[in-house]
Amino acid sequence: MIHDDALQKQLELAQQITHIGSWQWDVATNRVMWSDELYRIYGLEPQSAEITFETFLARVHPDDRERTSTAVKTALATGGKFAYPERIVRPDGSIRELETVGEAVLEGEKVMGLVGTCRDVTDTRMLDDIVQHVQIALAVFKVGVPGDPKTYTLLAFNPAAERLAMMELASRVGDALPDILPFARGGQLERLLASVARDGGVHETAVYRSADPKAPTRAVAMKAFPLPGGRIGLAAEDITETTRARLLREGEQRVLERIAAGGPLEDILDAICRLVEDHAPPALASILLVDPDGERLRHGAAPHLPRAYVEAIDGSRIGERAGSCGTAVWRKAPVHVLDIATDPLWADYKQFALPHGLRACWSTPIFSRDGRVLGTFALYYTEPRDSRPEDEKLVARATEIAGIAIQRHQLEQQLRDLTAHAEQAREEERIGIARELHDTLGQALTALKMDVSWIARHVESGDLPRQALLEKAKTISETSDELIAVTRRISADLRPGVLDALGLLAAFEWQAQDFSERTGIRCDLTSNLGTTKLDRETSTALFRVLQEALTNVARHANATHVEVKLELDGDALRLEVRDDGRGVTPEHAHGSHSLGLLGVRERARRLGGFAVIAGEPGKGTLVRVNVPRRGRAS
Ligand SMILES: Nc1ncnc2c1ncn2[C@@H]1O[C@H](COP(=O)(O)OP(=O)(O)OP(=O)(O)O)[C@@H](O)[C@H]1O
Ligand SMILES: [Mg+2]
Repeated sequence: MIHDDALQKQLELAQQITHIGSWQWDVATNRVMWSDELYRIYGLEPQSAEITFETFLARVHPDDRERTSTAVKTALATGGKFAYPERIVRPDGSIRELETVGEAVLEGEKVMGLVGTCRDVTDTRMLDDIVQHVQIALAVFKVGVPGDPKTYTLLAFNPAAERLAMMELASRVGDALPDILPFARGGQLERLLASVARDGGVHETAVYRSADPKAPTRAVAMKAFPLPGGRIGLAAEDITETTRARLLREGEQRVLERIAAGGPLEDILDAICRLVEDHAPPALASILLVDPDGERLRHGAAPHLPRAYVEAIDGSRIGERAGSCGTAVWRKAPVHVLDIATDPLWADYKQFALPHGLRACWSTPIFSRDGRVLGTFALYYTEPRDSRPEDEKLVARATEIAGIAIQRHQLEQQLRDLTAHAEQAREEERIGIARELHDTLGQALTALKMDVSWIARHVESGDLPRQALLEKAKTISETSDELIAVTRRISADLRPGVLDALGLLAAFEWQAQDFSERTGIRCDLTSNLGTTKLDRETSTALFRVLQEALTNVARHANATHVEVKLELDGDALRLEVRDDGRGVTPEHAHGSHSLGLLGVRERARRLGGFAVIAGEPGKGTLVRVNVPRRGRAS
């Protein structure tokens, strides 16, 4: 029937691609001609066997033979069209599902034969099955006028499409796109389909904020492709989670960059609030900071809370029933208040919130790396409700970043204070030295000068006995001793001389003994340092750490016993000062307003080491400094 070779080839190729085989049955000769693809469908080499109706029937699945035979005979008898599904068995025993359509070839009234095509739908069935279960939404539209989306009508869809559209679609088949999704009118979806209708290519796009009123925060990726017969296929996927994650990462990155650049804390906290608000609408975010006194909360950031409310709660108390935030700090755990109007935690605070329409508040503590509460991150809602589970992760990230920003800010603040403190200490030291020089040295030297001229005068006039001159000389000698002592004291204050003269261990022994004598607190020193000498900077730093630790014991600990350990372990130096007093609290150990312990940490850090300061209530305090040993003693 087909004479053109090229055409024949093309047809074969098309059959191969579409898994469609064709056949012609000449009734007179009982010869059946199969196309190459049909042989392949049957699991045979093309043209490898002669086919008759009987040999064909033998290859049909036994259960389908009867039906197939009847369908063919009916077509022969009536000369009409036919279509039937049938299963066939390949030589290797595998079963394929075929769909056959065909019609009778007539000469006048007489049926001369049958022609038809067979499609192997086994894989398609499997594909259909997959399509039913994939998460990707698929829909097929029929295009009327390519440039007019009102003429694009829905032809088919899978269950994922119904989930994505949040509606049942079976009753919408045949409806126009703008009628099914009115919110998409003139939007990206219509433009996407129109592009495919126009140029027959594959196009894709993504929507990051759906116009769908049912899911305003949703992001959807869409791909549209041409299908035969003026149809367009649409594959769409909900990418809300991944988009959110990506946008969030980018937002986080920007905030972290600002922290690294040393931006003002208020700006950074403000940016964190806005970032979360962007991803958790309609929540309003707020950050409060724990006041250095540890008893109150201070305003941190709240870009969209009413100003009057922000001012009203600035400085509110931390406690057992102190709204969501004050309570969250108190409990060191998140507090979900679903209705501010009725929750007892808000009894004393609801009069501030309700007039502004704030009805629910979920607050999460912001922790430092060592477990102190630095503040709270809260989400407010204008209706009674709980947070969404998907916002938990978001808030966890936000509190982490806020924690970094706050700690960094506190550290900078502490360093500024420390510098100022050191400056002030140096100034005081200078004043002290000046006073000492003026009062003691100055007076003693004046007295000395007077005594010397007294002697000179009397030696010259020779009016006094030798004894009186000797007496005077003795006074001069005593004044000189005093002068030497004062000079020693001043220089020892500037830098403990024992350190240089005898080395670190001797200086420690001297300091421990001096401490015991002055305070009456027993002080034991153990060390394996021996006469090992350390470099000047390390010795000075360790000595100052010991001084600060012992001063703290005397001032704050109420202890009866102190143990000092100074150990060299390979190239690591460890100093421990352990008392049996009341124990420093974590708040004091890390508080931003005491500079002694901060100085201890700073000294350790500068030597490339670290300090641990820990207390146990009623059991005492441990100050430990680990530093690497540096070049041998100078
Ligand atoms: N050995 C200790 N036992 C109990 N509490 C301590 C001890 N050492 C420190 N503290 C507490 O920790 C706080 C901080 O100590 P830190 O040395 O930093 O400051 P300070 O001694 O108060 O003042 P300064 O800046 O003059 O040293 C102290 O105020 C005290 O409350
Ligand atoms: Mg101190």
